[in-house]
Amino acid sequence: MNRVAGKIALVTGGGSGLGKADCLLLAAEGATVYVADINDAGAQAVAAEITSLGGKAHALHLDVSSEADWLAAYAEIDKAQGRLDTLVNNAGIVIVADPEETTTEQFNRAMSVMVTGVFFGCKHGLKLLAKSKAGSIINISSTASHFGYAPFFAYSAAKGAVRSMSKSIAVHCQDKGYPVRVNTLHPASIETPMIQSAEGRLGQDREVPEGVLPFGAVGSPKDVANLVLFLASDESRFLTGGEYLVDNGLAIRPGFVSGGD
Ligand SMILES: NC(=O)c1ccc[n+]([C@@H]2O[C@H](COP(=O)([O-])OP(=O)(O)OC[C@H]3O[C@@H](n4cnc5c(N)ncnc54)[C@H](O)[C@@H]3O)[C@@H](O)[C@H]2O)c1
Repeated sequence: MNRVAGKIALVTGGGSGLGKADCLLLAAEGATVYVADINDAGAQAVAAEITSLGGKAHALHLDVSSEADWLAAYAEIDKAQGRLDTLVNNAGIVIVADPEETTTEQFNRAMSVMVTGVFFGCKHGLKLLAKSKAGSIINISSTASHFGYAPFFAYSAAKGAVRSMSKSIAVHCQDKGYPVRVNTLHPASIETPMIQSAEGRLGQDREVPEGVLPFGAVGSPKDVANLVLFLASDESRFLTGGEYLVDNGLAIRPGFVSGGD
């Protein structure tokens, strides 16, 4: 119940899918959670759910591609808490278009949300995270950073940048003596509105059974949130600069190219 007791956490894209599951689990384990999203209604609903369960949460308007929004969000957290312990850069969008179909506008949009957004979050967050006794940045990449997923061209490129950028930030924190670890998570297909929308079935939930799943099954948001919780907790103090697959064995099957999440 108390694996992140007393920690202050910020989760971007916290109003839906994986971010929502992260917020609920971190709060259930004792963190005060800033549920940040461009979708205010989603963020407010998640914060209200946490509060109704006895947890601590605040909804925060944040467009991760806006530097001004990040500065305002951090100013608010600094004023209220004086530090940040956990940053989950989770906000993302999916664009389905191969390298020839992808427009410049689509490419730049993917980069602004998933690359520039993570850059702003880390760059401006380090001052507050460095005030933590044990800070943790968890950047959500994807298995798309590992493989050639032609139909998800801009998305894969952005997730590749998240993967490599995070390693540089991990090294930077150690070199500066900041007590901040930086890791990336690489989920395969997880049942969320993003996957539903990529598959043209938004709002139609696919059941994710309990127990061990067969190869090719989709995962549940909780499968990712459990690892976010571990990386946010002090149990993971010796882990930085790492990349962790949450893929039910997808990456150990060379040549498997379906999916793309
Ligand atoms: N679902 C999967 O299978 C899967 C697999 C690998 C990686 N991921 C990654 O996990 C993360 C979460 O995805 P999800 O499946 O929960 O999607 P989702 O669509 O359910 O949630 C994404 C959230 O991000 C928010 N968002 C979008 N643009 C934003 C912006 N500019 N500023 C702030 N918030 C913004 C949305 O409003 C939404 O609440 C994404 O980075 C995604 O790429 C998902």
